[in-house]
Amino acid sequence: MAQNWTPSSWREKPIQQVPDYPDLAALAATEERLAKFPPLVFAGEARRLKSALANVAEGKGFLLQGGDCAESFAEHGADTIRDFFRAFLQMAVVLTFGAQQPVVKVGRIAGQFAKPRSSGIEKQGDVTLPSYRGDIINGIEFTEEARIPNPERQIMAYRQSAATLNLLRAFAMGGYANLDNVHQWMLGFVKDSPQAERYRKLADRISETMDFMKAIGITSENHPSLRETDFFTSHEALLLGYEQALTRVDSTSGDWYATSGHMIWIGDRTRQPDHAHIEYCRGIKNPIGLKCGPSLTSDGLLELIDLLNPANEAGRLTLICRFGHDKVAENLPRLIRAVEREGKKVVWSCDPMHGNTITLNNYKTRPFERILSEVESFFQIHRAEGTHPGGIHIEMTGNDVTECTGGARALSGDDLADRYHTHCDPRLNADQALELAFLLAERMKGGRDEKRMVVNG
Ligand code: PEP
Ligand code: CO
Repeated sequence: MAQNWTPSSWREKPIQQVPDYPDLAALAATEERLAKFPPLVFAGEARRLKSALANVAEGKGFLLQGGDCAESFAEHGADTIRDFFRAFLQMAVVLTFGAQQPVVKVGRIAGQFAKPRSSGIEKQGDVTLPSYRGDIINGIEFTEEARIPNPERQIMAYRQSAATLNLLRAFAMGGYANLDNVHQWMLGFVKDSPQAERYRKLADRISETMDFMKAIGITSENHPSLRETDFFTSHEALLLGYEQALTRVDSTSGDWYATSGHMIWIGDRTRQPDHAHIEYCRGIKNPIGLKCGPSLTSDGLLELIDLLNPANEAGRLTLICRFGHDKVAENLPRLIRAVEREGKKVVWSCDPMHGNTITLNNYKTRPFERILSEVESFFQIHRAEGTHPGGIHIEMTGNDVTECTGGARALSGDDLADRYHTHCDPRLNADQALELAFLLAERMKGGRDEKRMVVNG
């Protein structure tokens, strides 16, 4: 039986991954300040995302979710945001063409600051310090002082999220996302990348279509959908005091919403059914993501689905599968079958990043071919089970970093040191992200041709 939920009922439950704040009075004072700040997103927007995701759950759309592993205060700037948005739009356009379906765009951005860690401590030489837990909690520098959790960082993260969101809204609604600009989204360095020619060809086809539509009177001036796009934000709801402070009642429905982002997700390390993170998330009405790793049993998944989505509402729950290229075949079919057997409505998304991390030359990295292999298996398994491979969830940046190996430029272990900038996990650079989108689009097209052959044959 579900107990009464309040925005603070999670505080009565056991909890994982909590920072050790030395000054609890200062923490409480910060949370009180945050609780008075304006919401970052609105309930109506979260509902719009939920209905877009409901379409995906029904097989009529594709979810593209991506961005930083961890946003940082140091990398905050207009260029970083623009470069990310541009790379993301390029991917979305490629996928829309491949899927011939609407692509629901959700960034890991404007709030993606708190990180779960596999170890609470980090050792360098003889020195042991508390782990870095994301800029919203402590500093990445390996000093005793930086690693002390500081509540003031929550205020900084809130302000950075607000500024980031403001620019993203302007890009999405103010003309930058206009399909007339499809050629201009070509990044400086992607221009001479192995993807450039492919992208230019696609952009040419889109421009040609736009010219044709213009000739019959359909223009970006009279059709907002050609000049504007819906772009949503998401992050892991890890730091629950911060989330609680931004949890607000929607005056039109009387429901509670997390207003820190449109969609929030629950990490693979904090999904214990009787613990705090599930308790918090079950009470808010936003679309929710649930990370599903190899340790999640089929019954465990069904229990979590009942807790998080008791009304079985399509669009409420996205299962973000992150098994690893070598474990997906063993784990995904059993989860799909359990969900299908019980008639649960979910979006199936593939996170090919978090199960494919290795260490090379002392750097955490991810080989592009393993990322691609997990995505391919994900698609094949869904085809075989007759379910919809609804989306991907990736860590990416619009910049020319060297964090994941492989891809068309064949980055090697020796290249990693060149531009390894991430504050946490290795991200696909813009080039690799676009390459992944093209490869995916081909698979989607292949899947459609196959379906057509089955129908006709
Ligand atoms: C993440 O998405 O950055 C993350 C930590 O993922 P997971 O919870 O799946 O390990
Ligand atoms: Co990560």
